[in-house]
Amino acid sequence: MKDLKFIAQQLRKPAGDFAATIAGKMNEGNKPLYDLTLSSMNLNDGDTILEIGFGNGFHFKELLSLRDKLTLYGIDYSKEMVNQATAGNMTFINSGRLFLSEGSSNRLPYEDHTFDVVFCNMVIYFWENPEDHLKEIYRVLKSAGRFYTGMRTKKSMMELPFTQYGFNLYTVGEWKSVLAQNGFNVDDSYHKTDPCFEENGKQIQLESVCIAAEKVS
Ligand SMILES: C[S@@+](CC[C@H](N)C(=O)[O-])C[C@H]1O[C@@H](n2cnc3c(N)ncnc32)[C@H](O)[C@@H]1O
Repeated sequence: MKDLKFIAQQLRKPAGDFAATIAGKMNEGNKPLYDLTLSSMNLNDGDTILEIGFGNGFHFKELLSLRDKLTLYGIDYSKEMVNQATAGNMTFINSGRLFLSEGSSNRLPYEDHTFDVVFCNMVIYFWENPEDHLKEIYRVLKSAGRFYTGMRTKKSMMELPFTQYGFNLYTVGEWKSVLAQNGFNVDDSYHKTDPCFEENGKQIQLESVCIAAEKVS
């Protein structure tokens, strides 16, 4: 069995031989959160969307089918995730509907006012200085563009022993405050209780949350 620190490092940035395995586990474990985020996002036909930290992009097909003429950009700082997501989504890339880049969300390689919607699932825990990332997200959003944060509640994440290794966990209230301090108008948050699963003989039930925020100007 892999040790907890190693699992935490792989979740932060999948790398090497274990990257495909951890991506498969994330796809399974984070499906309830993607279901919540994709159903909570206010999308319009023709929107240009950015996902930060997309993992292996298993959900791109579903996301691109939610409205007509969506264009999706993705950025992830794991080379392995960019490679896997690229290999699995060539049809969308070749048709000019999906653009993937390797890079970090504190230095986004996009022009100001590019996106109608930016979102990320299970990524904010790894931001040492959230303001550096939120500043960039704010910059690349169009006026009145929406930013959706997908996460699990701090209480439920603390049930997972690997989160003691380098995860910055937030309550919903704490994350809303961080968003507000960085100039966002915080809107609704959407909640869903995930199905139970067993980890090392213990029953665990995570609470998924999607927090909606808007660029003010
Ligand atoms: C825990 S995984 C979540 C993957 C997927 N969003 C999900 O929910 O299943 C975190 C992902 O975000 C990426 N990531 C973490 N910090 C990032 C950053 N600052 N910029 C870009 N990608 C980042 C990691 O490489 C990894 O693919």
